[in-house]
Amino acid sequence: MIRGIKGIKDITPEQMPKWSVVEQTAHALAHSFGFHEIRIPVFEKTELYVHGIGGATDIVEKEMYTFPDKDGTSLTLRPEGTAGVVRAFIERGLKTYQPSRKLYYIGPMFRHERPQAGRLRQFHQFGVEFVGSVEPSADVEVITLLWRFFSALRLPGLSLELNSLGVLMDRQTYKKDLVAFLKTKEDLLCENCRRRVDANPLRALDCKVPRCREATTEAPYLTDFLSPSSKEHFDRVLQGLQALAIPYSINPRLVRGLDYYSMTTFEVSCSALGAQNAIGAGGRYDDLFETLGGTPTPAVGFAIGLDRVILALPEATLPAREPWIFVASFGEKGRPAGLSLLDSLRSKHVKADTDYNASTLKTLLRSADRLGAPYVVILGDDEVTNNQVILRNMATKEQENYPLDVASSAILSRLRFQQTRRNIN
Ligand code: HAM
Repeated sequence: MIRGIKGIKDITPEQMPKWSVVEQTAHALAHSFGFHEIRIPVFEKTELYVHGIGGATDIVEKEMYTFPDKDGTSLTLRPEGTAGVVRAFIERGLKTYQPSRKLYYIGPMFRHERPQAGRLRQFHQFGVEFVGSVEPSADVEVITLLWRFFSALRLPGLSLELNSLGVLMDRQTYKKDLVAFLKTKEDLLCENCRRRVDANPLRALDCKVPRCREATTEAPYLTDFLSPSSKEHFDRVLQGLQALAIPYSINPRLVRGLDYYSMTTFEVSCSALGAQNAIGAGGRYDDLFETLGGTPTPAVGFAIGLDRVILALPEATLPAREPWIFVASFGEKGRPAGLSLLDSLRSKHVKADTDYNASTLKTLLRSADRLGAPYVVILGDDEVTNNQVILRNMATKEQENYPLDVASSAILSRLRFQQTRRNIN
C-alpha cells in the first residue's frame, strides 16, 4: 500500500460540508466587499519567492518545496499567495484597466514545516489583496473583511493584534538600535537568529524559540521609531477600526515572518486552537511591487488558514442537511420507471440517488437507511401499473401517493413546502 505524505491530508467527503460552508462564506463576503477572484499557479520560479518573501526568512531558508524543472530552472510550490498575485498583476498589466483592484484567492499552499495539529505541509488559504490605495481606509476594509469572515462563521475566542512597521526609513533607523541591542544578547539567541542579526534583525522578534523570546523582551519598540506620517497612518487605521467596533489590541512585537511588510501588520489568534493558534494574518506591503520589477504600487492584504478555521468551526455553523430523495425502484417495470424518475428529479435540481446493487424493496430500504436518506420514493411494478409512486418520509414513516407521470414536479413542490415550513419555524 502506498501511503500519503506526512503533513499532507485528504479532505474526506465527511469533512466536505464544513469546507463548503467556509469556502462559500469566503466567496460571498469577498464579493460583498467588491473583491474579484483570481487563480494563480501553484508553482512559480523560485526567485519570485526568494525576492518577494525575503532570502533570510524561515519560509525561504527552510520551508520551500523547491525542485529543478527539466531544463534546470528552479521551481517552487507556492508557500503563500501574495507574491504570485503581485507577479500576475505586474505581468498581466492588471493596473492598466483600473487604478485600484481588489482580488481574492482560495487554494492550497505548501510549506515544509514540522507537522502537528493545525500545522500542515499542504494547507489552504483564503487570501485577499487590495492593490492601489495608500489610504488607511483600505487597511481598515481588509481587516474588516477578515473580522467579518470569522464572525459570520461564529468562531470563538478570537483576538486581533496590530502593529505598524513604518516605512523603510523608519525601519532602517530602528534596525540600527535593534542590532546594537541584539549584539548584547547574542549568547542567548538561537543559532538562526545569531546568524541573521545583521542581515535581518527583525526576524529575532518573530522567532518562536523560547530563549529568543526571553532575550528580546527588552528590545526597543519599532513603534517608537515611526515618522509622523507613519504614525498618522497607523492612528487612522485604529480610528477606522474603532468606528466599526472591531476590537483589537496593539502588539509592538508583531513583525510577521515575511519580509515584504511595511506600515500596518496584523494577526488574529483563536483560543479554541492549540499551539498553532494564528488563524489569519496580513498587512501592508507598499514596496513589494517595486521589489518584483513593477512600478511602485501600494497594497494591503491578508491570508486566513482555512485548515485552522475548520478545526475551530462550531458545529452550529453547519446548515441543515439538504433534503434528498432515494429512489427505491424494483421489478421489471419499476426499475426503468425509477431511472426516468431519477433523471427527471435531477434535471429539476433535486438531489436524487439510488443503489444499483439492491434489487428488492427490503435491500433498497436498507440502503436508503444506511445513506441517511430523509425521503424514499417506492416504485415497483404495481405502482407503474397504477400510475403512482409512494413518497415515504423516513423520519416520521408517513407515506403519500403521487401520480407517476407528474411525480418529479409533485415531489419538488412537496420538498419546497417542507423547506418553507422549516424556515418559518
Ligand atoms: P502567513 O502569516 O504566512 O501570511 O499565513 C497566513 C495564515 O496561513 C496563518 O495565519 C495560518 O493561519 C495559515 N498557515 C500558515 N502556515 C500554515 C501551515 N503550515 N499549516 C496550516 N496553516 C498555515 C501569508 O501567507 C501572507 N501571504 C498573508 C498576506 C496576504 N499578507 C498580505 N497579503
